[in-house]
Amino acid sequence: MIYPIVAYGDPVLRKEAKDIKQGEIDVKKLSEDMFETMYSASGVGLAAPQIGLNIRMFVVDGTPINQNAEEGEEIDHSLTGFKKVFINAEILEESGEEWAYEEGCLSIPGIRADVYRPETVKIKYLDTDWVEHTEEYSGIAARIIQHEYDHIDGILFTDHLTPLKKQMLKKKLNNIQKGIVDAEYKMKFYK
Ligand code: NI
Repeated sequence: MIYPIVAYGDPVLRKEAKDIKQGEIDVKKLSEDMFETMYSASGVGLAAPQIGLNIRMFVVDGTPINQNAEEGEEIDHSLTGFKKVFINAEILEESGEEWAYEEGCLSIPGIRADVYRPETVKIKYLDTDWVEHTEEYSGIAARIIQHEYDHIDGILFTDHLTPLKKQMLKKKLNNIQKGIVDAEYKMKFYK
């Protein structure tokens, strides 16, 4: 099932999401729906608040980034097989140099901007079989995790931009909020 993607301006994107209790929801079915929704919008990550659910869950699949790499472009090995579901995730540590990477967000179509974040992230989470994992990621995989993890804390990538850049994007963001936006997938606007 493909969900409409919640657009910038909806308060659900600004809430700190709640942990999921085991057996409370069908996380396997939900993760399938989230992947389907994400692929239909050509995204590489999708967090539950983006489909209107105030729960700590997100899915990622960074493999298309390497598949779409142009000839001569370097392959990011952090993305090999990087298709995962993160439930009740907790970032334990972020380390390394901050680096700039151009981010975008399915809830904020038409806007992309460089965001600085630390290179490496150590994260603890549950998978859909409720097995706990603690793993470390770097490169673009870490970046996707950091972006999606922000979503379950009610943070958007635009929050990380400089005041000047935010000012420059203000009109575009207001338009998205009003539903004046061109997206190639179904969105849900807050009224
Ligand atoms: Ni996003």
